[in-house]
Amino acid sequence: MSFRTTTAIDYVEDVSPGSGALPPRAWYAASDATSLSLNGSWRLRVSPTADAEDDSFAEPGFDAGNWAEVTVPGHWVLQGEGAFGLPIYTNHLYPFPVDPPHVPTENPTGDHIRVFDLPEDWPSDGGAVIRFDGVESCARVWLNGTDIGEFKGSRLPHEFAVGHLLKPAGNVLAVRVHQWSAGSYLEDQDQWWLPGIFRDVTLLHRPAGSALDFFVHASYDHRTGEGTLRVDSDVDGRVSVPALDIDVETGETVTVRVDPWTAETPKLYDGVLVTEGERVPLRIGFRTVVLEDGLIKVNGKPLLFKGVNRHEWHPEKGRALDLETMREDVLLMKRHNLNAVRTSHYPPHPAFLDLCDEYGLWVIDECDLETHGFTEQAWRDNPVDDDRWTPALLDRAARMVERDKNHPSVVVWSLGNEAGTGRGLTAMAEWIHGRDSSRLVHYEGDWNCRDTDVYSRMYANHGEVEQIGKELDGGTHKRRELPFILCEYGHAMGNGPGGIADYQELFEKYERLQGGFIWEWIDHGVTHPELGYAYGGDFGEELHDGNFVCDGLIFPDRTPSPGLLEFKKVIEPVSFEGADGTVRVTNKQDFAGLSAFAFEWSYQVDGESVESGSLSVPALAPGESADVKLPEPPAQSPAGAETQWTVRALLAADTDWAPQGHEVAWGEVPVAARSLPSVAATDGPVAGDGVITLGPASFDARTGALKTIGGVEVSGLRLDVWRATTDNDEGAEWLTGVRCAEQWRKYGLHRMRHRLASVELDDDALTVRTRVAPAAWEFGLATVYRWTSDGSRLRLTVSVGPEGEWPVPLPRLGVRFGLTRADAVKWYGGGPGEGYPDTKAASRVGRWESTVDGLQTPYLRPQENGARADVRWAELGGLRIEGDPEFFLTARRWTTEQLDAATHLTDLTPGETVWVNLDHALHGIGTGSCGPGVLPPYQLHAGPAEFSFVFSEIPENSEIVDVS
Ligand code: GAL
Repeated sequence: MSFRTTTAIDYVEDVSPGSGALPPRAWYAASDATSLSLNGSWRLRVSPTADAEDDSFAEPGFDAGNWAEVTVPGHWVLQGEGAFGLPIYTNHLYPFPVDPPHVPTENPTGDHIRVFDLPEDWPSDGGAVIRFDGVESCARVWLNGTDIGEFKGSRLPHEFAVGHLLKPAGNVLAVRVHQWSAGSYLEDQDQWWLPGIFRDVTLLHRPAGSALDFFVHASYDHRTGEGTLRVDSDVDGRVSVPALDIDVETGETVTVRVDPWTAETPKLYDGVLVTEGERVPLRIGFRTVVLEDGLIKVNGKPLLFKGVNRHEWHPEKGRALDLETMREDVLLMKRHNLNAVRTSHYPPHPAFLDLCDEYGLWVIDECDLETHGFTEQAWRDNPVDDDRWTPALLDRAARMVERDKNHPSVVVWSLGNEAGTGRGLTAMAEWIHGRDSSRLVHYEGDWNCRDTDVYSRMYANHGEVEQIGKELDGGTHKRRELPFILCEYGHAMGNGPGGIADYQELFEKYERLQGGFIWEWIDHGVTHPELGYAYGGDFGEELHDGNFVCDGLIFPDRTPSPGLLEFKKVIEPVSFEGADGTVRVTNKQDFAGLSAFAFEWSYQVDGESVESGSLSVPALAPGESADVKLPEPPAQSPAGAETQWTVRALLAADTDWAPQGHEVAWGEVPVAARSLPSVAATDGPVAGDGVITLGPASFDARTGALKTIGGVEVSGLRLDVWRATTDNDEGAEWLTGVRCAEQWRKYGLHRMRHRLASVELDDDALTVRTRVAPAAWEFGLATVYRWTSDGSRLRLTVSVGPEGEWPVPLPRLGVRFGLTRADAVKWYGGGPGEGYPDTKAASRVGRWESTVDGLQTPYLRPQENGARADVRWAELGGLRIEGDPEFFLTARRWTTEQLDAATHLTDLTPGETVWVNLDHALHGIGTGSCGPGVLPPYQLHAGPAEFSFVFSEIPENSEIVDVS
């Protein structure tokens, strides 16, 4: 005989969404109804299994005095320094056996208790609800000993009616949270697994006649300039919008002249919904989203998404974000020209959407759904294609749509991410279309667009995107009629992403391509006492995906990475292209004119601005261009000087996201090229006792190695082709053809040998011939160093001739050497930040100053970084170095090999020597960590090359600080 026990924890593995919660409804931060935040300090006990403890802790009178205290909102694994368990990072692999709907017996369970009194002014009439805005992954709730229900759907709100259970004082709210549940199968997003009550808990008074659900329909007719408002409300009432003289019944339609809402012009009208028992403030934005002519149009115009995927992240608090952090995200996005966010891969804290409404960002609001781990079993048993799970999927769709439907910023609903395909998704799409016909539906996994209104892909390469732009991609009839977006591209892991300017060009060229969303906003590094920031594997996880969780445009502390600065440049709202004293100004916005901007010109001679003024630019509608004459070039420039114009667009007045003068766009118009440095070879090498001297320099007589330039010691100068591989060089395991690093190592580019062939002294030159090649292989680089001098300056010309069949591109091609002292760095060339061949749109020509430490970019996993592009000359360590032609400059207090070996920034310890790389060329960056590799124009293939540097000692008075 067999039997099965039913236990009190069966709900954990039940595929249903839960029981006891109220129907979902519109979310609002505050009304005139009283509320009580239950955030703050809670008592916590963590048990190893779901049923290790009975539910007596929920009884009033239970003494939790010896339990730990934690902060709610919060994740228990990020509090208590490991005492309550640790975070786990996996990309798509479930960190438990795929055995749906079962979860491991080892199921960390956090019992939470909060005792609260009602405030004195808490009304005695009416009811009350408790709202949980986010709990991962499953919770059972008791109030004053009464079981009020259980729920799943971690990033969605759940409300419970509790009015009948409340007492004036000593209320005991007990919440049992299980890390794993059937719901975990639906939440396999690429991020840390972080259990806990991580969003607000609020007690809301519900007066008699208070508002229930309501739906603000506010559309805009671009032909008439009129907005139409209707607020449907479960509880009848009135709606007023004083600025528009609107005062109507709920359900009544009214049409008036309005200023529309767009992300560029986020006009919101304050209104109020008044029911018998409650006044709910409304912030109304009028806009109409349609699919028309195969395009996503808002207010009659096609959009171009310049977007980013945003996970919620804070390095100490995980996904428990406070309002100020959310605001910081929005401000950073606005200040870097972004206009859109995909809330990957779950609805964010609702306050974030309020900010998007207020500051202006288009939002793709994505449902809390991902079942990516099923891909490992060819999607067998995928919950989204199994009717038993459909109620849970529909519950998630409804909780998202109902919560967020009153946000003008939300223009597209997304069913979820990487969940394969199936009937459950179709059911979600049908429900959403039926409930809200005023927005479009997105889901990337649906390549045939069966359920969706937009063809969406992730990481498609440039070639394919261009085919799609040209409508040559085939596909179903329905798909061919639809617009295209890249819901993920430009994987911002480590150094990069490369090639985003090339994508942007395609987006701007083909109408069908309506832009994309960079993956992703922030590195999910966890603050760690020894490692600085931890990533996957640092908590001893059994399964993990390393630093694949660090792939954001901002570092964990929200400092912009070079990737964000590059993206800002690539997506500027205004562009400048010029030649011959004229600049073509284009308004690249979709809705707004140029009135928000003031324009300036400046004129640079050898990188120094000598004059500037304001530029008058005619009013331009979106998409329009005008040729604007630049003034006469100021004063005569010295012979051989390089001259150029820089034209900039600045905010003409303070906005709520940046002050007056904030730069939104810039362009350079070259005038005269510099004359290249020349050194007359008037001196000749002189052999002495073990030493050769030439002009200011001395060399080792046997090896021809440079030793000093004047008083500056130089060590180890030689050809260098290796770089500490970037995440993009490493490439993703599942991508073929773009994994450079593996190939480079196979062919020994990290262990090149330098065979000295000859040291030759001529009348006017010292020539050192070498062959640079890896052990085991026959290909190599014949490398000749030719040194000449005019007595005070020293010129090195490096000639490189490949021999044999080179099977791989080169990481870099240049020279490296060590300096014993160097700190301050000055240069004339690209800056102020780093730039690589396919990431240097934001690098502008000028005179820059920094320090060796200041040149480093702190990618969480150390890797090649910090190169300054197009450098004409640089000064550091007592040397001035001029390039013929321009070069990439890198300097660091550790070797490339040390950088390559480090796994965390804390592994890098400064040595005595500053290692300098002067690169004639670098292989591009690409996005091979998840996407296409380096595009052909930016690849560095071995070929004959010649490049020169002119060295001279800087007179003593320049400030040089000792590194020791
Ligand atoms: C996508 C996925 C994201 C993230 C990204 C790589 O496939 O949708 O969640 O995993 O790849 O970082």
